[in-house]
Amino acid sequence: MPRGPTLGPRSPPRRVASDWDGHRRVVAERRPPIHNPNVLDMHNHVLFGLDDGCRNPVESDALAQAMRAVGHEGIVATPHIRPGVFDNTLDKIRRRRDETRPIIEEAGLSLYLGAEYYFSPELLAGARDRRLLTLGESSRYVLIELPTMSLPPRLDDLLYEVRLTGYVPVIAHPERCRGVADAVDWALERFRTAQVLLQLDLGSLVGHYGRTARRTAQAILDRGAYHVAAADLHRAEDVPSIVRPSLDLLRRRLRRRRVETGLDELIQHNPRRILENASYDDIRPV
Ligand SMILES: [Fe+2]
Repeated sequence: MPRGPTLGPRSPPRRVASDWDGHRRVVAERRPPIHNPNVLDMHNHVLFGLDDGCRNPVESDALAQAMRAVGHEGIVATPHIRPGVFDNTLDKIRRRRDETRPIIEEAGLSLYLGAEYYFSPELLAGARDRRLLTLGESSRYVLIELPTMSLPPRLDDLLYEVRLTGYVPVIAHPERCRGVADAVDWALERFRTAQVLLQLDLGSLVGHYGRTARRTAQAILDRGAYHVAAADLHRAEDVPSIVRPSLDLLRRRLRRRRVETGLDELIQHNPRRILENASYDDIRPV
């Protein structure tokens, strides 16, 4: 498997004028970041017109600026790939990435590419044929969303089957899956056995997805089982209510466990290791 991209320093944010749909607008002065200024976001829907995320370039611009304002320095765009619901091809995603890149970079962010795969027979077929779009495009890590209502039978066997093809699943927001919430320790044991990574959704911690998801996120966090945290942002409006309060909660909860560097590991270092295609054993849960 080839090595991932080497991540160099990002150029500073610029003041630019942009012109979309005949409407000229000036991008506002960036506010200084408040929280960790090096957030590398592994899960968002910033590419416009592909799924239930941003609908047009203006919304992509607004989301990118909002993320930059709360301290993000880079984002891995992860549009949905879900047969019958979001039938996105890799070519279409890459074309949209190319169209959106100037908007993201004008907002002062580095842009990388991935996808959020729904767990399905098509995903397994894609893994066997080695044609999945991985996080950062050249890593072994694939973001996978499990069904919300119940876990698939033989989950660990199926995840292990993906592992045998050379890919490593990164399970998106496991706390939002009812099958995980109903049996946290049972599910975590299966995830550990299958050797996958787990991504906390920052929105879950602040109750954005209900009390069950919040309680389950706290339980997984207190067991030190998450590898990455990301906000799964779809719109700029969600940024103030999710990112800042959730990072504060996360920091406090990790301090209670005396995991002083845990926040940086979850939002900065482990995401970078994933993009750089570090080995599974080098990406430790927090
Ligand atoms: Fe998502």
